[in-house]
Amino acid sequence: MRRKIVAGNWKMNGSKDLVQQLVGQVREQVASLDARAEVVIIPPALYVDSVVALCGSELVAGVQNVSQWQSGAYTGEVSSDMAKDLGCQYALVGHSERRQLFGESDEVVARKIEQVLASGLTAVLCVGETLEEREAGSAERVVASQVQQGLASVAGEQWSKIVVAYEPVWAIGTGKTATAEDAQAMHADIRRVLAEMGAPSETISVLYGGSVKADNAAALFAEPDIDGGLIGGASLKAEDFVSICRAFP
Ligand code: G3P
Repeated sequence: MRRKIVAGNWKMNGSKDLVQQLVGQVREQVASLDARAEVVIIPPALYVDSVVALCGSELVAGVQNVSQWQSGAYTGEVSSDMAKDLGCQYALVGHSERRQLFGESDEVVARKIEQVLASGLTAVLCVGETLEEREAGSAERVVASQVQQGLASVAGEQWSKIVVAYEPVWAIGTGKTATAEDAQAMHADIRRVLAEMGAPSETISVLYGGSVKADNAAALFAEPDIDGGLIGGASLKAEDFVSICRAFP
C-alpha cells in the first residue's frame, strides 16, 4: 500500500501570523481525517521552526529547497542537515520554479537529492514538462529524463525515502489542471521509468501538482497511480487545503 500524501507548498508566501493561524486551523481540521493521508506543510525556510512547533502529531513539515552542498561557505544557502535538525521530514527538490528561475540543472537536482537522502529526509523530486514540450509531443520523454537524471544515484533502501511529484509547468498557478486521465497516464509512465531504474516502483508515492483545488482533487486522487497532491495556492487557505486532504476515495 503506497503512502497517500498531501503537501502544501507555500512558496514565498506567509508571515508569523499566517503560520499561527493556518497551521493551527489545518491541524485542528485534519485531526478528524482518520489519518488517510500524511499532511505536509512546506513553508519558507525561515518559518520552518515555528511550523514544526505547531505540527503536533497530525502534520509534518518540509522545506522547499536545500543546498547541493552539505555545509560551508555558501552564503544564503540552507542545508538538508539543518532542515532535519529543525524537525523537517520532507524536502522538495527541483521544483520547476527552481529549475526555471534559478537555473537548477538536472545535475544540481541530483546532488540535492543525494544531500537530502544523506540527512535522512524524504526527497520529493519535482518533474514536469512545459507547454511547448507538451505541444511538441515530448512530455513523456522530458519527464522520464528528469526522473532518470534526478534519481540516478538512488539505490537500495534509499528508494523508501523518495517521492516523485509530477507538476506540468503549464498547470502551475494558472488555473489549468491536467485532466485526471492525462495525469494518470503520466504517473503510470513515471512508475514505468522508476521500475526500469530498478526502483520498487509500486511502493513509491507519485503526487500530482498544478492548480489542484477542492473541486478537482477528488477526480485526480481517484486515479490508481495518483497518490496525492503537491498544492500551491490552495494550501494558503485552511478550508481549501483541508478539503483537498479529504478528497481521497
Ligand atoms: O508545488 C506546488 C505547485 O507548484 C502548484 O502550485 O498554485 O498551481 O497549486 P499551484
